[in-house]
Amino acid sequence: MSSSTSPVIGIIGGSGLYQIDGLTDVEWKKVTSPFGEPSDALCFGTLEGQRIVFLPRHGRGHRLAPTDINFRANIDVLKRSGVTDLLSLSAVGGLREECPPGTFVVVDQFIDRTFAREKSFFGTGLVAHVSMAKPVCSRLGDAVMSACERVGVVARRGGTYLAMEGPQFSSMAESHMYRSWGCDVIGMTNMPEAKLAREAELCYATVAMVTDFDCWHSDHAAVTVDQVVSVLLGNASKAKGLVKNVVPLLGAHGGPCPHGCHQSLEHAIITGREA
Ligand code: ADE
Repeated sequence: MSSSTSPVIGIIGGSGLYQIDGLTDVEWKKVTSPFGEPSDALCFGTLEGQRIVFLPRHGRGHRLAPTDINFRANIDVLKRSGVTDLLSLSAVGGLREECPPGTFVVVDQFIDRTFAREKSFFGTGLVAHVSMAKPVCSRLGDAVMSACERVGVVARRGGTYLAMEGPQFSSMAESHMYRSWGCDVIGMTNMPEAKLAREAELCYATVAMVTDFDCWHSDHAAVTVDQVVSVLLGNASKAKGLVKNVVPLLGAHGGPCPHGCHQSLEHAIITGREA
């Protein structure tokens, strides 16, 4: 597919991040998709001289529960709008002592435990199997880490994100099990988003912003929405600084992704191959 020389940056904002500060030429536009209703209209604008497209994952006013988000429509409308580089910002629980509330984790792996969501653009009639071995574009990850350093946000590079269905938080047994699997953070929204971004041949990276210690930590009470929301607001304001700084770094990249994210379907489609 496309290997545009001028990147278009998409940003998906999670809980607490429903708009981007400092955007100019702002225009909210409804973009339609054959996959159904996306979470909201898309917000087109300019930030630090760079065209960006923003989508609040839960919709403005946080209307959509994780299971009800139409991930296929969300990725489809961003792709249709020319997005090449997609940065996902998400609230998560921390599953490690080293990931306390307020930490940002630039994860590099996922374990997908969601089960009630449409997970592919492909299926009967056109079958494709993309590689998810390296689900995150390290070029985007590098840019995020540099921007975090610039704005003084404590960020960890690498980590495994456990995607759960929700909407309930985990039981203690589940939380301990995910820790024993080597997971670092837990959230409800990055899958199937990352899989669909790969199928759409987008560069994708997630900034997992820790709001709580889930329920495994003996010194911390079980997670509550009140606790999540109070940390979330601080994280969202740091995220806005991060976005302002990462956008010019991403914009400076020309040419196709050196890791091949833009051609992930090249060796993935099986339908119609000669036997
Ligand atoms: N989002 C924020 N905190 C979370 C947690 N502990 N579990 C799942 N999703 C979350």
